[in-house]
Amino acid sequence: MASQDATLPGGAPAGSQGGGRPEPPPPSAYAGDEACAQCHKKESELYAQTPHALDSAVADAKTIKGSFEPGHNVLRTTNPNIIVAMTQEPNGFFQSGINMADPNHPTGEAERFDITIGSGRHAQTYLYWDGDQLYELPASYWRWSNEWVMSPGYPADSVHFERPVVPRCLECHGSYFTWLNPPANRFKKDSIVLGIGCERCHGPGARHVALERSANPPAAGSKDLAIVNPAHLSHDRQLGLCSLCHAGAVEPIGAPLRFQVGDNIRDYLQIQKPDPGAPVDVHGNQVGALESSKCFASGKMTCSTCHDVHRVQENADSFSGHCLTCHAIKACGRYKALGEAIRTKCVDCHMPLQDSAKISPAAGERVLHALLRAHRIAIYPQESEQVELSLREKHAARGQGARESSETGK
Ligand code: HEC
Ligand code: HEC
Ligand code: HEC
Ligand code: HEC
Ligand code: HEC
Ligand code: HEC
Ligand code: HEC
Repeated sequence: MASQDATLPGGAPAGSQGGGRPEPPPPSAYAGDEACAQCHKKESELYAQTPHALDSAVADAKTIKGSFEPGHNVLRTTNPNIIVAMTQEPNGFFQSGINMADPNHPTGEAERFDITIGSGRHAQTYLYWDGDQLYELPASYWRWSNEWVMSPGYPADSVHFERPVVPRCLECHGSYFTWLNPPANRFKKDSIVLGIGCERCHGPGARHVALERSANPPAAGSKDLAIVNPAHLSHDRQLGLCSLCHAGAVEPIGAPLRFQVGDNIRDYLQIQKPDPGAPVDVHGNQVGALESSKCFASGKMTCSTCHDVHRVQENADSFSGHCLTCHAIKACGRYKALGEAIRTKCVDCHMPLQDSAKISPAAGERVLHALLRAHRIAIYPQESEQVELSLREKHAARGQGARESSETGK
């Protein structure tokens, strides 16, 4: 396809053989979201409120979701004497390891919240700088139970601050950085651009902006707009864009930030077929799950069939309309029994919420739950039965209410 072989705004040819682009585009190739907003009001207006845009940020009172209120600002380890305390100080917000058994030296290491990772739909993790090296803080915030929990990878019975943050973490959770490897967690501090911005999915846009602002901007519908519209890419390349971050915990190939929209994702990631038995995780593989659906075999389905990433998603019911672009409501085997009640409930039965059931080290054997949306569209007999029961109950309750009001004459 011509659009794939063209030279992309970043420089190197897209989809070139032998491991993809040698280098990430330089910072000067990017224009930033404010520039895009000047001309693309429709896409920009609501974008700032989306989880992508809010996905990482400078840590402050607004962006940190966890509580600093006394009584709620402590993470207990499995050692009753050792805790992590979250406090607000004049120079920022801090996490401190405290040993309550040692009256002379109760406090151990304390580090500042510098960066938030995660919008907090499920959870949020925090990073701190030590010089130009980036590390993970021990306490994370778990939205489902609204509490502090031990960050993944840290031991349950003590407080540590030494988990380095690898570039792949920022490649998925941010927009840009200059990597000063080695060591792997060294970055040019002022190069980091937080939040997932427009150019993460459209490619570097400085040349597009310059062209559009020039005295002779390209004619409408021109082929050389120096920006990528994913809708014009092949099916495989469209999915490749979302796969960069939504194909689960796969190993990267080579240095970070080289992949650009339109490239072959397999030059950058060791993409694997999903294991249907794998536990559900906040780092889900929506691409792999969707690909294993019968609907996907239609060859027409991409993530954009259901998602408009430029706006905040609406509730699950609103997605049923997308199912009905390919299926007639009567195609559902339960239509005969349930009738029109299923019209807005396709997702509840065919893409049910799945329990992630994560063991939290901080909570000992306690299990932390998160509900995540299944992306293998299929027949789930058990979940369907539950939804069917609740539909029948609602139906019965409505019938009951109608009868009562007619009896009382209201
Ligand atoms: C000075 C105005 C201006 C700025 C700034 C601007 N654009 Fe555009 N953009 C346009 C115009 C005009 C078009 C073309 C409309 C057409 O031909 O249909 C366009 C088209 C696009 C398209 C569709 C391309 C296609 O082939 O269908 C995308 C995607 C896009 N811009 C993204 C961006 C992003 C991302 C930014 C910020 C980095 C940005 N634009 C900044 C004016 C601008
Ligand atoms: C640079 C990495 C990256 C890319 C590329 C990316 N995403 Fe995401 N996406 C994320 C992260 C990280 C989150 C979690 C955001 C949060 O903190 O809540 C997310 C969350 C989402 C969500 C759930 C939040 C919401 O908006 O309801 C949807 C849906 C989604 N992405 C769809 C897509 C689609 C579709 C594509 C491809 C067009 C895509 N993403 C490309 C990283 C990415
Ligand atoms: C492969 C790309 C990728 C990598 C690497 C990655 N994440 Fe994520 N992360 C995501 C995506 C995508 C989501 C949203 C998934 C969803 O909602 O199903 C997410 C979700 C999260 C969430 C929950 C956000 C919310 O929705 O509330 C946290 C916290 C998080 N990641 C932290 C991290 C940290 C810290 C690292 C690195 C140490 C990391 N992740 C590495 C892609 C990635
Ligand atoms: C997570 C990936 C992602 C992000 C971030 C993103 N877009 Fe898009 N954008 C897409 C996809 C995918 C399409 C094609 C949608 C489709 O298939 O209809 C698109 C289409 C567009 C178009 C073409 C619309 C049209 O009608 O042809 C414009 C313009 C655009 N985006 C601008 C922006 C701007 C401005 C931002 C930042 C505020 C932004 N995008 C952020 C993925 C993204
Ligand atoms: C792009 C078109 C398209 C969309 C959108 C779509 N499907 Fe499908 N779906 C298909 C095709 C094609 C098949 C395979 C039909 C066949 O095998 O007869 C299918 C099969 C199915 C099956 C049978 C699965 C099985 O394992 O037997 C179910 C259930 C289903 N779809 C439900 C849905 C629901 C619910 C939605 C919305 C969340 C949806 N589909 C959206 C095209 C689509
Ligand atoms: C057939 C419709 C459909 C398609 C296609 C689809 N999604 Fe979704 N997606 C949904 C629904 C429905 C939800 C749940 C929305 C809600 O609960 O508000 C969702 C939620 C998500 C979430 C948040 C999950 C969570 O529980 O945290 C992510 C991330 C996501 N989708 C990514 C993707 C990606 C990436 C693709 C393409 C591989 C994709 N989706 C394709 C329907 C779809
Ligand atoms: C209460 C749960 C429930 C709801 C709501 C529901 N379905 Fe189903 N659907 C099922 C079950 C269970 C089956 C399989 C058993 C059967 O065919 O009787 C099924 C079968 C299907 C099939 C496959 C038929 C076949 O023979 O391969 C399709 C397609 C489908 N549903 C689409 C939809 C669409 C579209 C919606 C929304 C308008 C929807 N379903 C809403 C439970 C549900």
